[in-house]
Amino acid sequence: MFVGYLTPLLLSLAVLVHGQLQTGFISIDCGSPVNFNFVDVDTGISYTPDGAYVSTGINNNISSEYAYPNNPNLAYPLSDLRSFPDGNKNCYTLTPAAAKGSLYLLRASFLYGNYDGEDKLPEFDLYLDANLWSSIKFGNAFDVITTEIISASVSDTISVCLVNKGLGIPFISALELRPLNNSIYGTELGSPVSLVLFERFDIGYTKGTGRYNDDIYDRIWSPYNSPSWNIVSTSSEINNNENGYRAPLEVIRTAAVPRNGSDRLEFSWTADDDASKFYVYMYFAEVQLAKNQTRKFNISWNGSLMFGPLVPRYLFAATISNSEAFTGKEHHISIYKTVDANLPPILNAVEIYMAKQLDELPTFSEDVAAVLNIKTAYQVNKGWVGDPCGPKNYTWEGLECNYSVSLPPRIISLNLTSSGLSGIISASFANITSMESLDLSNNHLSGPVPEFLKELKSLKFMNLEGNQLSGSVPTELVDRSKAGLLTLRVDEQNLCSSGSCKNKKNVVVPVVASLLSALVLCIALIILWRLRRKQKWEADTSNGEGRPLPSKNRQFTYAEVLNITNNFQDVIGKGGFGTVFRGNMKDGTQVAVKMLSTSSKQGSKEFQAEAELLMRVHHRNLASFIGYCDEGSNMALIYEYMANGNLKDYLSYKSSNPLSWEMRLRIAIHAAQGLEYLHHGCKPPIIHRDVKTANILLSENMDAKIADFGLSRAIPSDDHSDVIITTVMGTPGYLDPEYYNSRKLNEKSDVFSFGIVLLELITGQNAVIKKDESIHIVNWVSPLIEREDIGSIVDQRLHGEFDVSSAWKALEVAMACTRPKSLHRATMSTVLTELNQCLAMELSHNRETKERFSEEIYIGPYNSSEVCSTSTTSYSITRPFAR
Ligand SMILES: *[C@@H]1O[C@H](CO)[C@@H](O)[C@H](O)[C@H]1NC(C)=O
Ligand SMILES: *[C@@H]1O[C@H](CO)[C@@H](O)[C@H](O)[C@H]1NC(C)=O
Ligand SMILES: *[C@@H]1O[C@H](CO)[C@@H](O)[C@H](O)[C@H]1NC(C)=O
Ligand SMILES: *[C@@H]1O[C@H](CO)[C@@H](O)[C@H](O)[C@H]1NC(C)=O
Ligand SMILES: *[C@@H]1O[C@H](CO)[C@@H](O)[C@H](O)[C@H]1NC(C)=O
Ligand SMILES: *[C@@H]1O[C@H](CO)[C@@H](O)[C@H](O)[C@H]1NC(C)=O
Ligand SMILES: *[C@@H]1O[C@H](CO)[C@@H](O)[C@H](O)[C@H]1NC(C)=O
Ligand SMILES: *[C@@H]1O[C@H](CO)[C@@H](O)[C@H](O)[C@H]1NC(C)=O
Ligand SMILES: *[C@@H]1O[C@H](CO)[C@@H](O)[C@H](O)[C@H]1NC(C)=O
Ligand SMILES: *[C@@H]1O[C@H](CO)[C@@H](O)[C@H](O)[C@H]1NC(C)=O
Repeated sequence: MFVGYLTPLLLSLAVLVHGQLQTGFISIDCGSPVNFNFVDVDTGISYTPDGAYVSTGINNNISSEYAYPNNPNLAYPLSDLRSFPDGNKNCYTLTPAAAKGSLYLLRASFLYGNYDGEDKLPEFDLYLDANLWSSIKFGNAFDVITTEIISASVSDTISVCLVNKGLGIPFISALELRPLNNSIYGTELGSPVSLVLFERFDIGYTKGTGRYNDDIYDRIWSPYNSPSWNIVSTSSEINNNENGYRAPLEVIRTAAVPRNGSDRLEFSWTADDDASKFYVYMYFAEVQLAKNQTRKFNISWNGSLMFGPLVPRYLFAATISNSEAFTGKEHHISIYKTVDANLPPILNAVEIYMAKQLDELPTFSEDVAAVLNIKTAYQVNKGWVGDPCGPKNYTWEGLECNYSVSLPPRIISLNLTSSGLSGIISASFANITSMESLDLSNNHLSGPVPEFLKELKSLKFMNLEGNQLSGSVPTELVDRSKAGLLTLRVDEQNLCSSGSCKNKKNVVVPVVASLLSALVLCIALIILWRLRRKQKWEADTSNGEGRPLPSKNRQFTYAEVLNITNNFQDVIGKGGFGTVFRGNMKDGTQVAVKMLSTSSKQGSKEFQAEAELLMRVHHRNLASFIGYCDEGSNMALIYEYMANGNLKDYLSYKSSNPLSWEMRLRIAIHAAQGLEYLHHGCKPPIIHRDVKTANILLSENMDAKIADFGLSRAIPSDDHSDVIITTVMGTPGYLDPEYYNSRKLNEKSDVFSFGIVLLELITGQNAVIKKDESIHIVNWVSPLIEREDIGSIVDQRLHGEFDVSSAWKALEVAMACTRPKSLHRATMSTVLTELNQCLAMELSHNRETKERFSEEIYIGPYNSSEVCSTSTTSYSITRPFAR
């Protein structure tokens, strides 16, 4: 029976080396000094330093008590090592000369040798690409652990990775790759496995050291003999030519037979666990010339016939292996002569391998190529080594992958925010074709927002904010964003998309007239912000009285306001604190001018609050701010003009052109995006506090934007506890009952209000339905839901033209928003995801001509929000920072 593991690779014989070819060998002496190439005198193998294969880690030498001359038998490559104190996963990248799919043998060696002076044995894992190869554990400091694996390469490069399990710093002493003949070490067809060496024995040889320089595959054969065996051998050449396994001469020349000729030749081994699978390769060659005598035997595993009968040919090598893996803990091989044989069975050599299922495929090669390009192009310094997606728990930082059962993992998310990227946006991003989320915010990227980004068909989220990009976002992306299929975050200067600025004629230009003015505004805002910060501090120290509004930039004089509004001719709305007028800028841009009534002190505070917020919060689904006027008692806010008025009017029965189900979903998605941005995109998060249909404005293109931040409140971010406020604000019907009762405000209050908006979109009813007596929309819809009466729930004006499952799902979302307890309500992010699915359902249901909204559509008045409460509040807005 075999006991123990491989005899340590301590070479005692200094064999004179005949020039070995070493074709395709990669022999790395890990941790050796740069440019230190040497030939190992024992094996004749040329070793190279590891710098070309690894970019992380540090070089170390084992401590002198384990090194030469104290340890004269030490194989040279083991005297130094590379350790990896940083990062969970560190990898060597090997590029075999042979093509992808070729078979090779890899061997990693480890000798701790108290290199760090800590005298503490580490424990770590070794991975081949994304698959666990071996767990490395030492018995003592002079243990040489050598592990070998036979595997076919699945890509052009091979990663050997050391993974830190928290049990000490991983290191490696030597790494070797040997190409093999592709037709050997075959296993069951179609099952991708690699073979980890369990035992490799040269049977019947006792004098050798194990490593034979005539093994073209450079395997290490451990001499083995048993007291119940007799050694037989030959000094003749043995023909190996027809046997691809090519056991070296010294190995195949010697063999063992049972001492008692009638006995069986047996060996057994025990695996660590019941599920272990083994492949056994037995080498046979007849070495005794026996006239008129027959050697003939069968081989069985655990009592069942594995192979036989076999008559070994004189001086010809043969290799027998099991075609189906041996599974189990205890394994017993028996070689026994057949009845017609008069010579005992023989065994020349044996290899036992444990099969490792290659469950984890390496990442899709084009994704890898692209992300490696990105790594190189931007000098990404995130410890990106080895396979990007694997092993699963050790994906590259900033990367997310989608794993499927039989296909290579795909990169679906790349987060390179604040990673110091500079230069233009690389075309390689467009090569990660499954990408769903791309975050390149807060870098120094410049140049245009490239057209090729539209090739990312799965993209659902893209953040380019905080860069110096010029030009506009590709039209297709803008369209997808409008369709609610993509969440786009870009800087102001990239917002004016070619879609909304150039394409459409006679369109009311919504945001800012030109890129130039956007830039001016941007610069102005920065100056403003600086100035303001100073002023705020001064104001605070002077009792907060008479706080001036930000700067004189982008500020309009009262005379200008008069001019813009043509003497306040066109009233388009009235709010609780003032009147809203339509206006025209000099360049023709239509705007909405909100005049603050001079008498209202509350209004004044709101004015300041709103101005502060508007200047810092930018999102395509939030109403855009153009400027303001602050001249004594004349205070005005100037917004983009929203041609289609507010959602409340649009939904009302007055509207002759009812919104289609698809449009309703798109509007809901836009509004949800705006809110999601306030909640999750701003630091600290902002609670709107007055989400309602009257505050959702519709652009000429029917893009929805959330307006009126008069009541908005930023909540301190570190203290995420609910904010307690003294005065409840909001609009009846939309007001979160929990907030109303507890006075505790959090984002979920907006979620409740949004749920009401969604119910209104679904049903076409008002938040408070006034019939004989007033009934709240949630109470109206609940019994209908119980009766599963979707026909009565959905707005009758749709005449049943909607996907029923999409409507049900939207309804579920609305109900998940309006749950009494805020804890049970969904977040805006979840809501957004779900609504996108609703839209997808509707789109696949109704692939007919998508209704495009055009000029003929009813244009409602611009209605400023009615603020229900007129009570004064004394909060001061914490300055939010757009991310
Ligand atoms: C290890 O030892 C070699 C030679 O003895 C020396 O050249 C090398 O600098 C040492 N490496 C380290 C990391 O100390
Ligand atoms: C691989 O082994 C087979 C026999 O198994 C042999 O025919 C073939 O020539 C070998 N290939 C190489 C490249 O040695
Ligand atoms: C050989 O084994 C057989 C049966 O196992 C036994 O009867 C015989 O005595 C053994 N011979 C020797 C020499 O031990
Ligand atoms: C060889 O075997 C045959 C029959 O099996 C026998 O007749 C002959 O004598 C044997 N020769 C030797 C040299 O043992
Ligand atoms: C193999 O046989 C041994 C006894 O001979 C038994 O203990 C073991 O469980 C068997 N293993 C399997 C996998 O059947
Ligand atoms: C050896 O295997 C063959 C089948 O290949 C079988 O017919 C024969 O009986 C076996 N011999 C012994 C001694 O079990
Ligand atoms: C990955 O992590 C999970 C949870 O931490 C753990 O259960 C699992 O075993 C890990 N998988 C691997 C391959 O390490
Ligand atoms: C992952 O891939 C599968 C199959 O390609 C796909 O069905 C699934 O939606 C993907 N999941 C994600 C989160 O992208
Ligand atoms: C990217 O990472 C940053 C910081 O780790 C995080 O704040 C941000 O939300 C991430 N972006 C995405 C899209 O997940
Ligand atoms: C993108 O992938 C294609 C192959 O699919 C390759 O030819 C091209 O060079 C790649 N481009 C970049 C920029 O990585």
